[in-house]
Amino acid sequence: MEDTGKFLFTFKGYNFTYSGIDVDFLENLDDFEIRDDDVFIVTYPKSGTIWGQQLLCLMYFEEHRKRLANVETIDQVPFLEYNVTGRHFDTRPSPRLFCSHIPYYLAPRGLKNRKAKIIYVYRNPKDVMCSFFHFSNMMRILKPSTNMEEFMELFLEGKVYGSLWFDHIRGWYEHKSHFNIQFIMYEDMIKDLRSSILKVCKFLGKELNKEDMDAVVSQAMFENMKSDPRANYESVLNRQPEIRRTDGHFLRKGTIGDWKNHMTVAQNERFDKIFQREMKDLPLKFIWDINEE
Ligand code: A3P
Repeated sequence: MEDTGKFLFTFKGYNFTYSGIDVDFLENLDDFEIRDDDVFIVTYPKSGTIWGQQLLCLMYFEEHRKRLANVETIDQVPFLEYNVTGRHFDTRPSPRLFCSHIPYYLAPRGLKNRKAKIIYVYRNPKDVMCSFFHFSNMMRILKPSTNMEEFMELFLEGKVYGSLWFDHIRGWYEHKSHFNIQFIMYEDMIKDLRSSILKVCKFLGKELNKEDMDAVVSQAMFENMKSDPRANYESVLNRQPEIRRTDGHFLRKGTIGDWKNHMTVAQNERFDKIFQREMKDLPLKFIWDINEE
């Protein structure tokens, strides 16, 4: 384990926050017992993790969908590697739902028998970076940056939690044949949430009737999640007020193209050059603007 300052430590080449991490757990992650019907949402930070958690929760738990139980999303779809609200993985009934930011090479070996399912949600990296900039300033557990220039340096060098965005997405994409994985784009969810949910349902072999589907779509909309205390992580922040530096929220803007409000022309050009160099052979589609098809 390499200490990279007050905020991050690097384990097997990947940056974690100190908060919620148990090194023994990471050391044994490869052996973590996977059940065939486990389902994982995997993301690079700020790419729609909470959204994915809420979708799974709504799809799998009728009481969540019908608002019959006051169970929080984070408890129903806990982080694998970050211990946010306590771990009871062994005793959880199947199907177990998880979310995770791990890179492909830290994935438990059991995922490689291609039975358990992984949904990888990805988002255009300029919006990821802007979301991350605000998030890093909001959370006391992360290093703040005075401006976007400063944060962009860290982001493009992978000196943030989650390490380098390019490595994360490339790793999962290039090793997709080792896993049972479905890629879902955040921007597709923004543009047509119902179609994205249908795609996820098909992958998971889940059938929802019209009423249930309507309930999932409605409760996964940004405004509804923002006002739903079970879904927006406010309780996590309230339980541990010391982790918040400023008054921000996990659900901030939830749109496509906010990077245009943050990046200068020069920063954008530099980013584009790096993006083209790093991504030229990766056949994934990206949407950068809310009006783009
Ligand atoms: P912004 O900061 O750009 O608003 P993560 O959960 O991986 O940390 O990602 C957080 C980002 O996803 C935030 O982006 C948040 O607003 C956005 N998000 C969460 N739920 C959403 C929803 N229902 N619709 C659109 N965006 C959502």
